[in-house]
Amino acid sequence: MRLSALARRPGKLWDGHSCSRRALTSAANTSFYRNRLLETYADKPTSRLSLRQLVFYGRAMNEDRLIKSANYVRTELPVRIAHRIRNMQSLPYVVVTNDEVAKVYELYWKAFDRFRTYPTITTLAENDAFCQFLHELLDEHLPVIPHLFLGLSLASPYMEPEVLDSFMRRMLVSRISRRVLAQHHIALSDSLAGRDGESPEDHVGIIYTQLNARESVEKCASILRQRPHDIDADAAQELKSATWPEVIVDGHLETRFSYIKEHFEYMVFELLKNSMRFTRLHHRDADIPPPIRVTVVAGTNDIHIRISDQGGGLLTTDIRQPTDLFSFSHTRNATRMASTRLQSLRDVVEYQGGVNATIEEQVQRWKRLAEIKSEEASKNWRQDIHPRIGLGLPMSNVFARYFGGELELVSLDGWGTDVYLRLPKLGTNLEGIEV
Ligand code: COI
Repeated sequence: MRLSALARRPGKLWDGHSCSRRALTSAANTSFYRNRLLETYADKPTSRLSLRQLVFYGRAMNEDRLIKSANYVRTELPVRIAHRIRNMQSLPYVVVTNDEVAKVYELYWKAFDRFRTYPTITTLAENDAFCQFLHELLDEHLPVIPHLFLGLSLASPYMEPEVLDSFMRRMLVSRISRRVLAQHHIALSDSLAGRDGESPEDHVGIIYTQLNARESVEKCASILRQRPHDIDADAAQELKSATWPEVIVDGHLETRFSYIKEHFEYMVFELLKNSMRFTRLHHRDADIPPPIRVTVVAGTNDIHIRISDQGGGLLTTDIRQPTDLFSFSHTRNATRMASTRLQSLRDVVEYQGGVNATIEEQVQRWKRLAEIKSEEASKNWRQDIHPRIGLGLPMSNVFARYFGGELELVSLDGWGTDVYLRLPKLGTNLEGIEV
C-alpha cells in the first residue's frame, strides 16, 4: 500500500497533519489539493550549481546580488524538498508509516509549506529575517539523519537493497545540497554585513578558496589523538596508557584548493577515526602501533588523498566487500540490523539530536555529553556517549560524490586498508543529479 492510502486513515494524514475522525473527509479533500500543489513543485527541475558558480557569484557581493541570492534560495529549496517528499510517497506503506520516517516526512512538509508561502525578499532587513528563518529550519532539521537512518534500518527487510540505497543516497545528497544553499546564503549575508570576523581572502560564503589539505588532516589527527576515548571508549579503557597511532602526512604538502571545509574535514575526520581505531585494536599488544600514512596529491583536475593504515583490513563475516560499508541494507551489511547498532541509533535519536556538525561542534558536543554523563553517573544512565552507528563511511561517500568526487576503500586483508578520496579541484562539476 502506498502513502496516499494514509489519507483515508483516521488519525495521522499523509500530509503530516493530525486530524480528528469527523474532519477526515474534508481533510482528505484538502490532502488531494495539497498533493496537487506538491506536484507543481516536484515537476519543476532543480537548478543545480557548481562550486565555482557559488564562489563567482558570492565574490562580488553587494546588496542587489544578496537579495537575488535570498530569492533563489527561497524559491529553489521548496522545489528540492518537493522532489524528496514525492520520493517518500513512493515508499512502501510499511516503511513510510514507521515513526522515524513519518517524523522526517512531517518535517519536510512543514518546511515545504513555510518556504512556499515565504514572501519575496526585497530589502536587507527582510534578508536578515530570512536568514533567521533559515537558521531555525537548519536547527529544526538536525535530527533528520538519525531518524531516517533508524527508520530505514528497521525497514530494511521490506526493501530491495538497490532501492533502499538509492533512496537513502537521494535523501542524503539532497539534504546536503539544501543545507549548503542555506548556509552559504547566511554566510554571504554575514560577510556583507561585516559580521563573520574572518578574512575575506580565505573564503566566499562557506567555501574556502585556499583550503590547505595538510592543515585539515593534521587538525583532525590531533583532535583524535587527544581524545582516544571518543574514538572507542572500550578500547581506550582496555588500553589505558597506550599510545594511539601517529599520523604522518606526505606528498604535495602545500596543496590548496577550493572546497567546503566542513565537508572535507568531516570526511578526513571519519576516515582517520576508523583507521586509528582499527590500527590500535589490531596491534593491541604493541606499545606503539604503526603510524597511519596520509598522502596528499594535487593532480591536474583532482585532489587525491590516500590514507593507508595497518589496521588489519575491512572484511569480516558481515562485510564481504568494502562497498557494503556504504550500504544501508542489512542484506549487504548485516550490522545495520544488529541490536546494539539499533540501540545506539535510538540513543542518538533520543539524546543527541543531529550527527553531522562541523568537527569543532562535534567535539563541543562530546564535551557537553561527558559533563552530563558525569553529573548523571549516579543515575540510571544507559547512553554510550559515542555510539558507533556506522554512519561515518556512508556519509563520507555521499559528501565525496556531491560535487563529483569519489571514495574508494581497498582492504588488504590481514594487513590494513587503503582509502582513496578523490575530489575535483576545479569546482566546475555541478551538484549531483540527486539534489
Ligand atoms: C534539512 O536539513 O533537511 C533541510 O532541508 C534544511 C533546509 C530546510 C534549510
